[in-house]
Amino acid sequence: MTVLSLADAPFDRWLEAARDRRSRRSFDGTPLPAEALTALAEAAERWRPAEATRIVLIEQASEALFKGIVGGYGRITGAPSALAMIGASEGADAQVATGYAGEAVILEATALGIGTCWVGGMFDSAAVARHVELGAGERVLAISPLGTPLEKVSTTERLVYGMKKPKPRKPVAEIAPGAEAGGWPSWARPGVEAARIAPSAHNRQPWRFRADGGEVVVAFDGPEARIVSKRLDCGIAMLHFELAVRKAGASGTWQVLSHRSDVARFTLGSA
Ligand SMILES: Cc1cc2nc3c(=O)[nH]c(=O)nc-3n(C[C@H](O)[C@H](O)[C@H](O)COP(=O)(O)O)c2cc1C
Repeated sequence: MTVLSLADAPFDRWLEAARDRRSRRSFDGTPLPAEALTALAEAAERWRPAEATRIVLIEQASEALFKGIVGGYGRITGAPSALAMIGASEGADAQVATGYAGEAVILEATALGIGTCWVGGMFDSAAVARHVELGAGERVLAISPLGTPLEKVSTTERLVYGMKKPKPRKPVAEIAPGAEAGGWPSWARPGVEAARIAPSAHNRQPWRFRADGGEVVVAFDGPEARIVSKRLDCGIAMLHFELAVRKAGASGTWQVLSHRSDVARFTLGSA
């Protein structure tokens, strides 16, 4: 059973970062300062929530890591460094845990002023494996560039990603039916608001929250539970949820579930 919780996470700092964060894909190529790299490596080690995952800093990344076609989804340029988001097994728990753990480091990077972008499909696993030694059963589930974004939103970012405006998000009524009408625990509503702004592959936002007694369950938006990126997406949203619950003065833990469409259950109590 995988239980996820980051009791000592700097929730104020990361919530602020969550509001500022936007995926960035064009960087200026300059190396990141040594202190920033050290801080990120430490963050990845310190906030490792479960054995099922680990996040590794690649200090010197090459463009070969990113396979995106020119002008297409996943086209990343000029990133001096990267993160490898590694699942320790093929299991569904590892995928959820990797979303959760990876987002912690993404938010810390954002707080340090570093640009990021989850990349779940268009990367070269063999190229990543040349930078990171993988253990038996370990798999790279996603990577992220790290770098100083070009000051200006690039043409690709503007044309392909519509980056002039922030990406739209589904309303609370859709991702957490009933939360607006009341009947939900008071601490859960800010959690849903923070989950809402989480990044997801193709901005699909596949997470659906429901109150279940005094607890909250996150499930997929449909019966398909096998898509890896949806599990990553839910893990990411779960971290956002937990940060806001902590800011609201409550605390609790996520238990990852093995049900086909229910992903995890949040229960109040200390970690
Ligand atoms: C698990 C995951 C995989 C993603 N994969 C890619 C990718 O392969 N290429 C890419 O350009 N963006 C990728 N993204 C970024 C999303 O497109 C982006 O988060 C979403 O459109 C919302 O925009 P925002 O991050 O600016 O809020 C991915 C995001 C997540 C969470």
